Amino acid sequence: MRVHGQSETDGMTYSYMQTILKIDNLSKVYASGFQALKSVNLDIHKGEIFALLGPNGAGKTTLISIVCGIANASTGSVMVDGYDIRRNYRAARSLIGLVPQELTTDAFASVWATVSFSRGLFNKPPDPDHIEKVLKSLSLWDKRRNKVITLSGGMKRRLLIAKALAHEPRILFLDEPTAGVDVDLRRDMWKLVRGLRESGVTVILTTHYINEAEEMADRIGVMRAGELILVKDKVELMQDLGKKRLSLLLQDPLRQIPKELSMYPLELSPDGSELTYTYDTQAERMSIVGFINRLGDMGIEVRDLRTTQSSLEDIFVNLVKE
Ligand SMILES: Nc1ncnc2c1ncn2[C@@H]1O[C@H](COP(=O)(O)OP(=O)(O)OP(=O)(O)O)[C@@H](O)[C@H]1O
Ligand SMILES: [Mg+2]
Repeated sequence: MRVHGQSETDGMTYSYMQTILKIDNLSKVYASGFQALKSVNLDIHKGEIFALLGPNGAGKTTLISIVCGIANASTGSVMVDGYDIRRNYRAARSLIGLVPQELTTDAFASVWATVSFSRGLFNKPPDPDHIEKVLKSLSLWDKRRNKVITLSGGMKRRLLIAKALAHEPRILFLDEPTAGVDVDLRRDMWKLVRGLRESGVTVILTTHYINEAEEMADRIGVMRAGELILVKDKVELMQDLGKKRLSLLLQDPLRQIPKELSMYPLELSPDGSELTYTYDTQAERMSIVGFINRLGDMGIEVRDLRTTQSSLEDIFVNLVKE
């Protein structure tokens, strides 16, 4: 286990962060010759919620499959709490719970049997109390005698989570856990994941709902074309890359931005009717008053104005398209 230095976030000083998962120089070339991962390095801190974002085909599922020992890496290593996923597969794997992106489970087994069986696979002694707790926390208790085939899509997704939690893993991977899950249930799942973190479980999730990452994650990683292009504390990421915008709707359209306003960070809409002032630093913010006065002096009339702040989604879209 490695120990990091201290870090400060939001004025709170966390004590030493431990690395529970260490990914070094991981590359993957599929048999087809396609390179799905390009030298990925990543340390996951014990007890954090880490969100892995990236467009379709970026390599998220490939990365998770290798870390969980389902696929082999072409180069590199994965250490799970000190155990090498290849050399000490059983020890490493028993610390991990995986909720796969694709639904895979025996359609004719009962909910109870599916979850209990999964615990047995990891050589853990039966523990009906634990299975009951897991099924209740996922609102599947009433369905425990049902065959999997009789569950709805959202229930099957929850069953996969129950299955992944059956052997009390210390690290939980959720590969798009809320795809196709309704809004209420998604909120329940967020609550469940937060509860898991409180009990000391480390969570790594992928999602295409960026607001999910914004809501849940402590840190964000962004993948693009097999590379991990960014890893950052969520709050810092939004402070560093998030911008604010002031949009002014003009009474009379402008043909271009007047020379007298060239010192301001402005953009004019193609039809000339909207002037947008983008700012992220305190200095730029301070000059807004001067800018508005200047507009008045120049006789440019403003019909309406609004301010917006970039969301994690805006930041993500910019990162991925660059
Ligand atoms: N078994 C395979 N053989 C060859 N290529 C594969 C295989 N599995 C995945 N790939 C390719 O590797 C790339 C990464 O796929 P992966 O499933 O890891 O992406 P992802 O980031 O999880 O995407 P999504 O958001 O769609 O789930 C894709 O281009 C995919 O076509
Ligand atoms: Mg995937």
